[in-house]
Amino acid sequence: MPALVVSIMNFKGGVGKTTLSVNLATALANSFKRDGEPYRVLVIDADSQANSSIYMLGEYWRKNVYPNQDKSLFGAIHRSLKGTTDSIGPEEIIGANPNAVNPIFSIEKGIDPDGRVEYRESSIHWTNLHLLPSHYNLVYLERLLRPNKIGKVNVKGIGKSVYYFEILDKIGKYINSYYDFVIIDCPPNLFYLSENALYFSDYILIPVIPDWLSTNGINWLVMQLYAMSKKYRRKSKSIKAIVPTLWTEDDPIYSRHIRILKKSLAIWKKNAKYAEILRETEVWEGLQRSQSVSKAIESLRPIEDFNSLEPARIQITRMVNQIINWRLP
Ligand SMILES: Nc1ncnc2c1ncn2[C@@H]1O[C@H](COP(=O)(O)OP(=O)(O)OP(=O)(O)O)[C@@H](O)[C@H]1O
Ligand SMILES: [Mg+2]
Repeated sequence: MPALVVSIMNFKGGVGKTTLSVNLATALANSFKRDGEPYRVLVIDADSQANSSIYMLGEYWRKNVYPNQDKSLFGAIHRSLKGTTDSIGPEEIIGANPNAVNPIFSIEKGIDPDGRVEYRESSIHWTNLHLLPSHYNLVYLERLLRPNKIGKVNVKGIGKSVYYFEILDKIGKYINSYYDFVIIDCPPNLFYLSENALYFSDYILIPVIPDWLSTNGINWLVMQLYAMSKKYRRKSKSIKAIVPTLWTEDDPIYSRHIRILKKSLAIWKKNAKYAEILRETEVWEGLQRSQSVSKAIESLRPIEDFNSLEPARIQITRMVNQIINWRLP
């Protein structure tokens, strides 16, 4: 069965895309198939801010990826354009080398009694959680692609011209065949990289803060995703859920906006045009704002490391159970 690819998308910034991507992926990697094998999970950091990469790798990213853009999604796409590679392989994916210690979440960041930052080796190693990291230079990719009048780019590595949004899909054969789940942390825009992520994906999750400014563009976003997916012949796209993030319990503003989102979704679903992309869309409980999430990120740990009774962890587990169900026959 090929990988199930899920893009976490929203053109709005700061809505929790990275937090969700990393923590959903980690919880998936901590789950087991019916045969007792753990799921093989890949995070693709498609945002030039490299936040997922820095969260998952800490100093390792600064020392090993930042000085060498080749070891990143930028490098992989760049090489395919230049003609030196036709596929993303295990050698460019962090954690994929079975003979080396996986650096993902291998270091824990703490504060010593004098208030100084200290780094400790973690006792947990995530052998089945891998990362195709980002590099800041990914921001230049839009300039590098230069599609022709009909939107095609010459990808020397695969020896032909393809639509600009097909590149990741064309060089992602290994990813599709090796992993069970691929989670793509998208940038806060709908430019070329987001389109590549969308084309490569089966499903989309849209994180949204249930407040006035964050919910306002959702209708437009759905329209854009519909318009983009209409261009793609390969497979249909489905927005699986709108995921409320950074909300606080008992806050009437948030609960009001969640009610509005649900009502709006019911109205959008009636529009025949959006029937396919919105057919399965639900509004989930999502992930509330919590100190344990801030602490997890600050100490470079996944929420999965926290007490299983922690509300944020319970919320992540609920979402992951839904995602696993999408893969079951
Ligand atoms: N549930 C949460 N509880 C507390 N803080 C959170 C939570 N989710 C996210 N944050 C914090 O909110 C900020 C934005 O989150 P995040 O970086 O995940 O958003 P993003 O959508 O990926 O942003 P960008 O658009 O810049 O990529 C970060 O500082 C993160 O630490
Ligand atoms: Mg982000």
